[in-house]
Amino acid sequence: MKGPKIRERPARSSHAPSTYIGAVGRTRVVVFSGAGVSAESGIRTFRDAGGLWEEYPIEEVATPEAWARDPERVLRFYDVRREAIIRAAPNAAHIAIAGLEAGFDVAVITQNIDDLHERAGSTTVLHLHGEIMKARSTADPTLVTMINGTSLKPGDRCVLGSQLRPHIVWFGEEVPMIPSAARIVSRADRLLIVGTSLAVHPAAGLVQLAPPHCEIVLVDPDEVHVPRTGVRHIKGSASKGVPQLADEWLSEKT
Ligand code: APR
Repeated sequence: MKGPKIRERPARSSHAPSTYIGAVGRTRVVVFSGAGVSAESGIRTFRDAGGLWEEYPIEEVATPEAWARDPERVLRFYDVRREAIIRAAPNAAHIAIAGLEAGFDVAVITQNIDDLHERAGSTTVLHLHGEIMKARSTADPTLVTMINGTSLKPGDRCVLGSQLRPHIVWFGEEVPMIPSAARIVSRADRLLIVGTSLAVHPAAGLVQLAPPHCEIVLVDPDEVHVPRTGVRHIKGSASKGVPQLADEWLSEKT
């Protein structure tokens, strides 16, 4: 039987990251991640060679105008992404990031719409650009539901009777989690930036809010311009560089 695959109940929040303050007396580690952290889980990045935006023009699938013009195309685009994410598993980088909680107060701020940080065990994850496993009402953006299954279809409606849309921040839309993320970064003692080209604002601007004493480490196989001095670059893949750094940080504690 065909029908909406939407559970009409509020979605679990991402561990209330908007109210996260960190524990007194513990070193606060903030992880700022992008598509590269999930690349070795088989999730495509956006701007590398063969990246998603080469195949799908942003203006056809990831803007409010695209949604108004051709919602079915937009829904199909995210259905394919969702299927890939459901099949994927966290990699060594996600697991090492979750493992940092053994020694530090950790908040993950991710631009990714996948749930691989949560599935690896991270407990405080703020999604700047939304979450692919959730849908929200087009009538009331506060009505968010989990998607039960892989697809969202025209005719899948919220409790108010309006069409559901992917719970994604599209280009040209406000990024409602920015103030919470800014507060978290501004209190960081250590900032790990991993797998992001820092090409998209306002997200990329967050790294400038780290306080002067904050140790900043970038893990990325490519050169990435981080608008700060004193940034250490571990030039390599997330699955190698992140566990290496996590071991280093955790061993300093013993
Ligand atoms: N390990 C670590 N980093 C990697 C790996 C890897 N295995 N493979 C690629 N990278 C790096 C690339 O070198 C690049 O710096 O990941 C980064 C990916 O950059 P983008 O594709 O631009 O992804 P991201 O920075 O997350 O994009 C930001 O743009 O289109 C929007 O909303 C989308 O959240 C996304 C935002």
